[in-house]
Amino acid sequence: MGELADALRSQLGARAPRIALVLGSGLGALVDAVEEPKRVPYSALPGMPVSAVSGHAGEVVIGWLAGVEIVILSGRIHYYESGDPAAMRPALEALKAIGIEILVLTNAAGSVNPSIQPGEVMLIEDHIAFSGRNPLIGEPSDARFVGMTTAYDEALRTAMLRGAVKVEEGLHRGVYMWFSGPSFETPAEIRMAKVLGADAVGMSTVPETILARFLGLRVVAASVITNMGAGITGDELSHTETKEVAPRGGARLARILAAALPHIAA
Ligand code: HPA
Repeated sequence: MGELADALRSQLGARAPRIALVLGSGLGALVDAVEEPKRVPYSALPGMPVSAVSGHAGEVVIGWLAGVEIVILSGRIHYYESGDPAAMRPALEALKAIGIEILVLTNAAGSVNPSIQPGEVMLIEDHIAFSGRNPLIGEPSDARFVGMTTAYDEALRTAMLRGAVKVEEGLHRGVYMWFSGPSFETPAEIRMAKVLGADAVGMSTVPETILARFLGLRVVAASVITNMGAGITGDELSHTETKEVAPRGGARLARILAAALPHIAA
């Protein structure tokens, strides 16, 4: 087993989580709901990919959420930080190696659908890898030909929707389109995204979903909408806005997740 998996395993001790949660920009507050948290900075984990983006804490949190054992990656590295779409591969391989079976991915995203507004949450039903990059390019094994027909696990999506109903929070459903970033989209690109079938746009999650399916992890993912896509309101977009609005939707997502986790774990 690799060095990172060994380091994670030694931090786990007797704990044996099957579910991992990756937190997107500005969503670090989800960690506050964790019971008996054990926090380990990424710097203490050899081989852990570290994001330098502000709004990403850079720590692993091991604990319980809604009575379910969980490991949280608070902070993820993005394609745009290095140009490597497989930047998260070592982290996901280590999660797989320590026994994780289910990956819950979260992100901050812009909406291109007028019925999905800032502060609201969207369950990702499908994605479009618009960046054109694939994290499995160069992978030599036949396992690289990953089926993506049901990338976002249907049973886990149902679990999320049940959680949302239970806590009476709205949970939209839609298609997430991956742009490389780090610049935001242009208004023309947002109009294109809409025509092509996207409901939200963002700079993450898609490469992790592809890698996770490659590794045999089941995936469920949700976007916290922090803004309308470029040109929809006329306001300029900024990372400051992403970080300011994300916690609002993040609180909603935390309630939905807490209610969904027992169903996700079932
Ligand atoms: N576009 C891309 N990524 C984002 C956005 C956006 O509008 N908002 C938050 N992350």
